[in-house]
Amino acid sequence: MAKQKASASAHPNIALVKYWGNRDHALRVPLNDSLSMNLGEIHTTTTVEFNVKLEHDRLILNGAELEATSPAATRVVAHLARVRARAKIETKARVESKNNFPSGAGIASSASAFAALTLAATRAVGVELNERELSVLARQGSGSAARSIPPGFVEWLTSWDANNSYAVSVAPPEHWDLRDVIAVVSAEEKTIGSTEGHRAASTSPFLVERLNALPGRFHRVRRAILAKDLALLGPAIEEEAIELHSIAMTSRPPIYYWSPAMVRVIQSALKWRAEGLAVYFTLDAGANVHLICESKDAEAVATRARGIAEVQQVIVNAPGAGARLVEQHLF
Ligand code: PMV
Repeated sequence: MAKQKASASAHPNIALVKYWGNRDHALRVPLNDSLSMNLGEIHTTTTVEFNVKLEHDRLILNGAELEATSPAATRVVAHLARVRARAKIETKARVESKNNFPSGAGIASSASAFAALTLAATRAVGVELNERELSVLARQGSGSAARSIPPGFVEWLTSWDANNSYAVSVAPPEHWDLRDVIAVVSAEEKTIGSTEGHRAASTSPFLVERLNALPGRFHRVRRAILAKDLALLGPAIEEEAIELHSIAMTSRPPIYYWSPAMVRVIQSALKWRAEGLAVYFTLDAGANVHLICESKDAEAVATRARGIAEVQQVIVNAPGAGARLVEQHLF
């Protein structure tokens, strides 16, 4: 076939137990197990077309062509190479990708981007992978993308065998009416990407402590999700978020994702909780604060978050579906 095209859509996810550090950097095999929720309100849609007439891969993100030598383009081209290797073809591709959220909002899009790219590209070349195989492949583009393949609440276990580290759903989206109210405080691109952060993790003298504490915390978070127990979940995810940033800040050289606006939102959330609102925070490798609550409290949390001067935008997310093929192509 001269041309082969497919489109897919995937949600980003928020890690409740974080992936930070690799056993194998090249294959993105994580140091530890992690657990996340797909973010239903925001998504990436990607169309991939392999075309024998193309001399180079062409990548268009949110309407703008990526510079071939840019780090983002290099990473996508490397992922296309993995797909080509599976299909045993050399054909170049045109990739168009769109986020329904502003790319400058500091919301990590690599998870949804590589999940959607993996599904669209493999289908475009006629390779039908199952969920596990898609997760293993997406993981090699961006670790957290492994978790954007299955639906709802998702766990990703590490393994000494790279083909055995993949994500699976622990509960479907409708299991629990949990909400992630994202308080966007920074429109800036982070200066140090997570790929670099994963490499730096092992230079923190506290990493050993973290790895010792993680199995217990992971099971607490998993149990809390299955039991829909926010009072059990909340303290564990806050402890986890602070620990991620502590590891980053004590890496050598240190990485500061921390910002005054972030602290402002965290302190506000603690105050609201003291006033009786059941809300807890988590963070990723950026300055935005993810406020976790049940659906009945989401509007109250969102309204209060909008009232904080530093908060530029608020996005309320229900648990989202897994990566899926879509009929409508972007070109
Ligand atoms: O998938 P990456 O390399 O962007 O790493 C994700 C890192 C965190 O978002 C901080 C944690 C996580 O598990 O998603």
